[in-house]
Amino acid sequence: MPSSYIKGIGFYVPGNVVSNDDLARHMETSDEWIQERTGIQERRYSTKHKETTSILGTNAAKKALTNARMKAEELDLIIFATLSPDYYFPGCGVLLQRQLGITKTEIPALDIRNQCSGFVYGLSVADAFIRSGMYQNILLVGAETHSMGLDFSTEGRNVTVIFGDGAGAVVLSATSETDRGILATRIHADGTHAEELAMINPGSHGGVHADDLTIFGYEESEFGKTFISPKMITDGMIYPNMNGPFVFKNAVARFPEVIGEVLDATGLVKEDIDLLVCHQANLRISQFVQKRMGLRDDQVWNNIQKYGNTTAASIPIALAEAVEAGKVKKGDLICLAAFGSGFTWGASLIRW
Ligand code: ACO
Repeated sequence: MPSSYIKGIGFYVPGNVVSNDDLARHMETSDEWIQERTGIQERRYSTKHKETTSILGTNAAKKALTNARMKAEELDLIIFATLSPDYYFPGCGVLLQRQLGITKTEIPALDIRNQCSGFVYGLSVADAFIRSGMYQNILLVGAETHSMGLDFSTEGRNVTVIFGDGAGAVVLSATSETDRGILATRIHADGTHAEELAMINPGSHGGVHADDLTIFGYEESEFGKTFISPKMITDGMIYPNMNGPFVFKNAVARFPEVIGEVLDATGLVKEDIDLLVCHQANLRISQFVQKRMGLRDDQVWNNIQKYGNTTAASIPIALAEAVEAGKVKKGDLICLAAFGSGFTWGASLIRW
């Protein structure tokens, strides 16, 4: 049975740097509050109408393909993870396929909606396809354009200051070397707390103010539900909602738990980890996990300070940056771990 390894990796972030002071000009917040609670100093925002999520993803994918010394047409499958797609449908996977100039219809495009865990979920799917012998080369992209959907008033400050835009990508390829590549992956979900970190409008539940169809000048009918209404917009019901302390509490429990699972699955121990790359949710969460696991500073990689939380993109951006910085050598044991909305979480252990 073949195993899968990361043959190429790349990331792309928009050039537009937004500091904490920039945000403080729009809402009641401060550089001090943001840095103290989240560790974030700045984040990147896409250029509106020019840099969509699929475009950020395409830029990262091109770098990963160049790094893998491969052409887009050599891929067998595209997997795209995001919570901020260009369109409600179709998903970003087909847009990426088009933007990479792929005309071979044998290269399908799969979209993943697992928010902060999207990249680890995608990795487990890609690894399973490669192990089954179905595909040899899979492009996995995580990309987000959060800046298009945040509340820049004081009401939205607890969420808005955390998130940034960006994309990361890897090419996963088959190898017959059994001691290399993805050693184990575990993924989990618990929908009990789905609304504790969610953007529920627009959605097929009909919307919080779905009875306001009269605003459009017609009466509510048996078909009179709508994904979105003007009142939802004016009432600020279209933004993400987060119970911050509750998310924090769950995240710091689940990260060590799932990292322990992939270590147990491989018979390895935390001392064997050369680099832990956690989803960059909040620097305080990553530091808590590091402390709980007793890892040294040189065993972890954090870059949320520069990019904020980029959800599905955060792990591939951080990993690509660590590789570029020379922090990852052949033979190193890399652990990726994620927790986020759903709740969903997971981890993966990779021998580089
Ligand atoms: N600037 C200034 N004050 C703020 C801001 C802000 N940006 N946001 C909230 N506050 C205020 C609140 O209004 C509140 O004021 P009050 O006491 O007068 O009511 C006070 O700060 C404390 O609010 P809390 O929400 O209790 O603040 P907390 O200390 O929990 O920090 C935070 C908030 C940073 C969101 C924290 O809960 C957290 O890190 N949670 C984890 C969530 C997370 O990391 N999410 C990332 C996305 S999810 C993921 O990727 C897993």
